[in-house]
Amino acid sequence: MKNILLFFLGCITLISCEENKANFVTIIESPNKNIKVNFSLSSEKQPMYVVSFKNETVIDTSKMSFDLKDALSLETDFKILNTTTDTFNETWQMVWGEDQEVINNYNSLKIELQETSELKRKLNIIFKVYNDGIGFRYEFPKQENLTNVTITDENTEFNLTGNHKTWWIPGDWDIYEYLYTTSKFSDINAFKDYIPGAHLGQTYIPENAVNTPVTMKTDTGLYLSFHEADLTDYAGMTLAVDTINLEMKSELVGNSKGIKVSRATPFKTPWRAIQIAEKPGDLIESKLIINLNEPNSVEDMSFFTPTKYVGIWWDMHIGTGNWDYAGKNHAANTKYAKELIDFASENNINAMLVEGWNIGWEQWWDKKAKKVHFDFVTPYPDYNLQEVVAYGKSKNVALIMHHETSADITLYEKQLDTAFALMKELKIHAVKTGYVGSVIPEGEYHHGQFMVNHYQKVLEKGIENQVAINAHEPIKATGKRRTYPVAISREGVRGQEYNAWSDDGGNPPEHLTIVPFTRMLGGPIDYTPGIFNTTLKPYKVKNQVNTTLAHQLALYVVLYSPVQMVPDLIKNYKNNPAFQFIRDVGVDWKKTKVLDAEIGDYIIVARQEKKSKKWFVGAITDENLRTIKINLDFLEEGKTYIATIYKDASGSHYLKNPEAYKISKQNVTKETILTIKLAAGGGCAISIVKNQ
Ligand code: NOJ
Ligand code: CA
Repeated sequence: MKNILLFFLGCITLISCEENKANFVTIIESPNKNIKVNFSLSSEKQPMYVVSFKNETVIDTSKMSFDLKDALSLETDFKILNTTTDTFNETWQMVWGEDQEVINNYNSLKIELQETSELKRKLNIIFKVYNDGIGFRYEFPKQENLTNVTITDENTEFNLTGNHKTWWIPGDWDIYEYLYTTSKFSDINAFKDYIPGAHLGQTYIPENAVNTPVTMKTDTGLYLSFHEADLTDYAGMTLAVDTINLEMKSELVGNSKGIKVSRATPFKTPWRAIQIAEKPGDLIESKLIINLNEPNSVEDMSFFTPTKYVGIWWDMHIGTGNWDYAGKNHAANTKYAKELIDFASENNINAMLVEGWNIGWEQWWDKKAKKVHFDFVTPYPDYNLQEVVAYGKSKNVALIMHHETSADITLYEKQLDTAFALMKELKIHAVKTGYVGSVIPEGEYHHGQFMVNHYQKVLEKGIENQVAINAHEPIKATGKRRTYPVAISREGVRGQEYNAWSDDGGNPPEHLTIVPFTRMLGGPIDYTPGIFNTTLKPYKVKNQVNTTLAHQLALYVVLYSPVQMVPDLIKNYKNNPAFQFIRDVGVDWKKTKVLDAEIGDYIIVARQEKKSKKWFVGAITDENLRTIKINLDFLEEGKTYIATIYKDASGSHYLKNPEAYKISKQNVTKETILTIKLAAGGGCAISIVKNQ
């Protein structure tokens, strides 16, 4: 399948560059020649790189080094032993995803370095340059003077060329559940938005740093996004921000002992990735992050089919039910589960999640009292697990298991085998995991190497037992779904649940016009769209969902996940004509196109369903009403289609009149350009079906 052509790029030059006193400048270009990376050694013989796009420098001279425990830093005095170039071009198929086919085309350069000083330690740097960005990683080869490596700091610099407009969240070591701030790079202040109590986890923000993906717009109109790919057996990377020199530097997540990464050589770091785009939508259509990961290693993924799912979930968040059995209103009972199964099977929904089914929820918050004793195989007395699974099976509705661990990894890992064996026995093929609160063992953080390895262990258990994983409070998505398609979705975002209970007014309408260009560049999001009772009356007085109903519908297209929840109470969907869109909308795609967007203002996405070939369009706006044009030129030449349009009614508004919408039908063709008014906080969802 692979088509590797070794070829000498011809653009490799060994010249000395007077200007930055560098010697050995090596240049590598993207296949379309728009992106160029210059690699060189400084006058102190330290590795450094420069990136340009269409001859405009986008990353200026940036150095690379590592600080190690009980050893000299790997920093200067390097010589180049060897350089190798490659070009690669393949088209691979996604098992499930936004696009069926993915083009993976890059030029690569491997630089083998060795210290000239006594220790003669070796370090390799590999660049891959694509048309949509670059990735580079470090390789620590097996060698005598570097066997066990303890990294106390990775110092990869990203030297910006201007004071870019930046969409960022703080570099929290435990949680990504923040609203994005839009500011000039020089105004980043990671502590500013820290709101005690507004998060479900311990928050630890040691310095002015941001989490990735972090996205920027330059004054020249380019879009840049910084992230990492293939985060394996290594610490997650935050980016420390130097607001004076307009520079970022990798700041790995450590533990309380000050250790970032412990590995034995040989090993490779994750890829440091920079997406470069001329249009915001190109960031979303880019496959850089997933392409930087290894091909699929799971032979048989037939046990998982992308699906919509209902659940016993929103009840707990709006307070109509409880997770625990000791109090009142235990929601996870057999009767309610069966009602949901009936509703799902009547509405083209093939799965159901049940939270609060297992014993241990009575003090699940109460870490200090050390009273969290989850058991992942024993149901509460009013929930008959076997009966629910069998009933679901009879109606073609699969159960999604739930494991809230309260981040007690010691407890969970002891039970992993039995918990997964139970799912195997019952033929349950998906689990939602959760890691609320601070990590046990104490001193570890959600985004450090210890936890990266834990999340990986759970993926491996999933592969062994044919169980797909949807992790909440996860490690960020870094494209590993390519190698492990069992990693179906994850949270790692300020999700819908904040609208139900946060003290800060919930997620503003703008939130989801930023998330697709930041968090979603990593991979699928379990946001749980689709709340129809946006005012949350009569259950919540102080909270509400800050969008219109039509905006909620559009999210099924705008946000990508192979599992999309249909979370609202059954009664809010029944007899509501807008529910037809949720019944119809796809979850597995042949093609994805971002039709138009401006980060933080609006986004219009079209996706074609893999099986049915139907098209679905979703458009959302921030707090401003706007009129958008939707160009349907992606449709087939010479064919006519019926478009069913679900849009805000005139007078609808996310605060004053959120649930007012209009449904209309019209014939459309490739030539059609629809003009649609979106209300403040509004949206529009369209299904497009070919006329037979
Ligand atoms: C937080 C998760 O984000 C949410 O979806 C879940 O319901 C609770 N934890 C309980 O596990
Ligand atoms: Ca959460």
